[in-house]
Amino acid sequence: MVNGIDPSLDGSPYQQYLYSYPHKTAYRQLRPRPLLADLWRPEPRGALFCYLHIPFCEMRCGFCNLFTRSGPPAEQVSDYLRQVRRQAEQVADALGDDTGYARAAFGGGTPTYLTAEELTELFDIATGVMGVALPGVPLSVETSPATATPDRLAVLAAHGTTRVSIGVQSFLDAEARAAGRPQRRAEVEAALAAIRAAAIPNLNIDLIYGIDGQTAGSWQQSLDAALAWRPEGLFLYPLYVRPLTGLGRRAHSRAD
Ligand SMILES: C[S@@+](CC[C@H](N)C(=O)[O-])C[C@H]1O[C@@H](n2cnc3c(N)ncnc32)[C@H](O)[C@@H]1O
Ligand code: SF4
Repeated sequence: MVNGIDPSLDGSPYQQYLYSYPHKTAYRQLRPRPLLADLWRPEPRGALFCYLHIPFCEMRCGFCNLFTRSGPPAEQVSDYLRQVRRQAEQVADALGDDTGYARAAFGGGTPTYLTAEELTELFDIATGVMGVALPGVPLSVETSPATATPDRLAVLAAHGTTRVSIGVQSFLDAEARAAGRPQRRAEVEAALAAIRAAAIPNLNIDLIYGIDGQTAGSWQQSLDAALAWRPEGLFLYPLYVRPLTGLGRRAHSRAD
């Protein structure tokens, strides 16, 4: 709740906490089905935000219920990209000529689950089909420790990516595991070094607090490890344990 006061949140520091993605239950069939061109016609279209979603990850983290699939077969990824191109053509047609973009983002999931070649295709869709002026327009791309590799980051940098946001969650291997996200600190540090080497101007690091077993001291260790990279942004998420996630199932099986 942003404008009104929700009594259950009154005084809570989380009043402004919000997800910027539409939740997957927000997608539904519309009856009657309006034409996209009719919906866009009366809208101002000079400074739009182009968001391309890549619903793939190398694993499904225990806390995450975002719109994604882990370890898809390669052919599903190429089919998906073909479909993104087809839909982008339809959306671009519906938007018409007098359209401009003020910002863009590739989110997920993990957009860098795509290979360097597939990322090049994604940029081609954004620029060639949607008409996003890249390099130029601020572009943010999400990544993960295992997929922030120099070859992919080179593609992001070459197309003018201005911000890379990496989900680290915790710099402590045991904590990451407790959150249902097995990863090694060495891999995280290598990914951060690769992002800095790619000279993308704005680095954001996501951390989660409230992980099982986390203490004030271990949280401080993660904060210090993140700040050592002098990131331009730090997103600190409270752990949300949601139904139909690994952590949600684990919580149900425990007395408390
Ligand atoms: C799309 S992911 C970031 C990029 C990449 N997929 C990764 O995880 O490394 C979005 C971010 O949302 C946060 N997040 C997702 N689900 C959450 C939850 N249940 N509780 C707290 N933070 C959550 C995590 O910090 C995660 O990095
Ligand atoms: S947190 Fe990131 S890597 Fe993990 S499942 Fe969610 S989107 Fe994928």
